[in-house]
Amino acid sequence: MRDGPGRLITIEGLDGTGKTTLATALGEALTARGLPVTLLREPGGVALSERIRALVADPGARIAPHAEALLFAAARAQLCVERLVPLLDAGRWVILDRFVDSSLAYQGGGRELGVETVAGINRVATAGCVPDRTLLLRLDRETGRARLADRGEASDRMERESDAFFARVAATYDALAADDPRRIRVLDAGRSPDEVLAAALDELADLLAIDA
Ligand code: TYD
Repeated sequence: MRDGPGRLITIEGLDGTGKTTLATALGEALTARGLPVTLLREPGGVALSERIRALVADPGARIAPHAEALLFAAARAQLCVERLVPLLDAGRWVILDRFVDSSLAYQGGGRELGVETVAGINRVATAGCVPDRTLLLRLDRETGRARLADRGEASDRMERESDAFFARVAATYDALAADDPRRIRVLDAGRSPDEVLAAALDELADLLAIDA
């Protein structure tokens, strides 16, 4: 739990699990309870980080795994300094679509850099900013793929990775959740958006009770 009045809630999971839908719905639900909410996403959220987002998404870019981890960390460092820490210090509830766990899962697991290596890079990037709660959306890869196909967008550089890559990402997310069940709560993302929102609010009940 953070010392200050702000709260940081992060949303994690594979592409196509409904992170953005949950972030939006959760933002509305918390705002309706009178809480001061800000929605942010990674990579992005501030100008420099949006430029890095475009770079890492570019299918034409050649990026070595450790360079990729450093780029995501650089985007995160700027977001933390420029927006995240000031918002939390001002007492806001920040709902953040992806954070350090994405790097641990995608670069640590998917790219096989190792969770510890990537965690080390991110300790520098985040300067001690840790989520109060992380909601991990879990969905089988087939359903996730089908949802991405329904969106009809061209795949970005990450989305073109192999099934084995995404299996490593999913396994790393599961291992992170098993290691830190107090912070990371797993939600079955195969349900309707309303059901996922209700489950998310259940997992935040203790934070909401304290701050009510
Ligand atoms: P995301 O915002 O979920 O993609 P979109 O909005 O296009 O669906 O994230 C972009 C991609 O970046 C996604 O494939 C996951 C990847 N990613 C990492 O590999 N490491 C990271 O640290 C972050 C934040 C994202």
